Amino acid sequence: MRVDLGNALSEVADPGLSRTGLDELDERVADAHERIERGRANADHGYAALNLPETANPDEIRAAVEPFADAEAVLTVGIGGSALGAATLARGLPSETDAYFLDNVDPEHVSRLLDSLPLDSTAVNVVSRSGTTAETLANFLVVREEMERAGVDWTDRTFVTTGDEGNLRRLAEKEDLPALDVPDGVPGRFSVLSTVGLACAAIQGHDLDAILRGASDEADRLAGSLYDSPAYAYGAVAYALEERGAAVNAMMPYAESLETFAEWFAQLWAESLGKDGRGQTPARALGATDQHSQLQLYRAGPRDKLVTLVRPETRADRAIPTTDLDGLSYLGGSSLGDLLDAEFEATEASLAAAGQPNVRVEIDRVDEESLGELLYGMEAACVVYGELAEVSTFTQPAVEWGKKAARGLLGGGDFEEADAVAEKTTLT
Ligand code: PA5
Repeated sequence: MRVDLGNALSEVADPGLSRTGLDELDERVADAHERIERGRANADHGYAALNLPETANPDEIRAAVEPFADAEAVLTVGIGGSALGAATLARGLPSETDAYFLDNVDPEHVSRLLDSLPLDSTAVNVVSRSGTTAETLANFLVVREEMERAGVDWTDRTFVTTGDEGNLRRLAEKEDLPALDVPDGVPGRFSVLSTVGLACAAIQGHDLDAILRGASDEADRLAGSLYDSPAYAYGAVAYALEERGAAVNAMMPYAESLETFAEWFAQLWAESLGKDGRGQTPARALGATDQHSQLQLYRAGPRDKLVTLVRPETRADRAIPTTDLDGLSYLGGSSLGDLLDAEFEATEASLAAAGQPNVRVEIDRVDEESLGELLYGMEAACVVYGELAEVSTFTQPAVEWGKKAARGLLGGGDFEEADAVAEKTTLT
């Protein structure tokens, strides 16, 4: 992963960082790096995720999904960090095995999806670290019923990915389902490089070793200076820009295959850093499509944004046919990739010309290795940001509050959070 910070400097952007400001920030990055390395060495909660390139066991994952090698499709039933990492890999990488995700309990969507799936040749992966998340367990019960109704032996087509305890673990034991363990110390949104993100990728035939190799290369680039570490450079500058007023981070990849990456990033950034009145609100955009919508706001709206432009340096390209139509001949001889690159550079320049801070992030191409780099790099960026902002990056109390309130409302426990729902102030 390569990061270009030029358009985040105060010579170009407002808010922006002076070169002295960057040097001062670099001293703090050195301390943050030491804390991160200590956390990794002790495999402390959260920091353990940054060890996954070494600790994940691709052979174990491949062996666990071997019984599903003939599946036409794989359905992941999970939510948040238990779905988005796998979805990012699935939508980033081409495969002959289709991947589907049930990460919402919208009944219309659930029914439509189940009606369209070849249930007798679909592998179902039920993923929940806690094993207690209502949406995931409810969806699983619905999927199970649908399989029974279709005469499919669901126990043959289902495996679970979960922690040591919880209802899902108990269910797996009771039904003798294959089970993959969610590693200790790895919060959901940091779990893409573990069993949680990689099982679906394995069924789809993706090269897990290459994903982990890319992540490991990025891990090797973590260093005590932001000038030596692209991941820290991105995270530290995003933090410093937030301090200077960039309360929004618009993630804008220029590749359809990275659209879900922007969603994954939004979760990582929001759930990890949104604490104690801090954090950047992530916005999701897709280049070049959203140049024709959101870019207007990014360039000329409130000066409260960092725009992150991500692109692969190479991609499978397609020539634009020549035409003698007046005014269109300039397109002939170019390719759609050339045009997309031109759009990328135009957006970057347009933002810079308006003094709007933006950072360029590049990977070689959208493949296993580069996705491993990008995902690991953004996780490390998030962790260093959290260190600098002194927030508790690896907890999610607001998310837990909502989970308890919803369970309480359905009678799944006596949670005081549910009472607060009843006390809602109404004005209609
Ligand atoms: O990052 C997180 O911790 C959350 O987004 C969780 O992944 C999400 O709430 C799902 O939790 P679980 O895996 O316990 O079902």
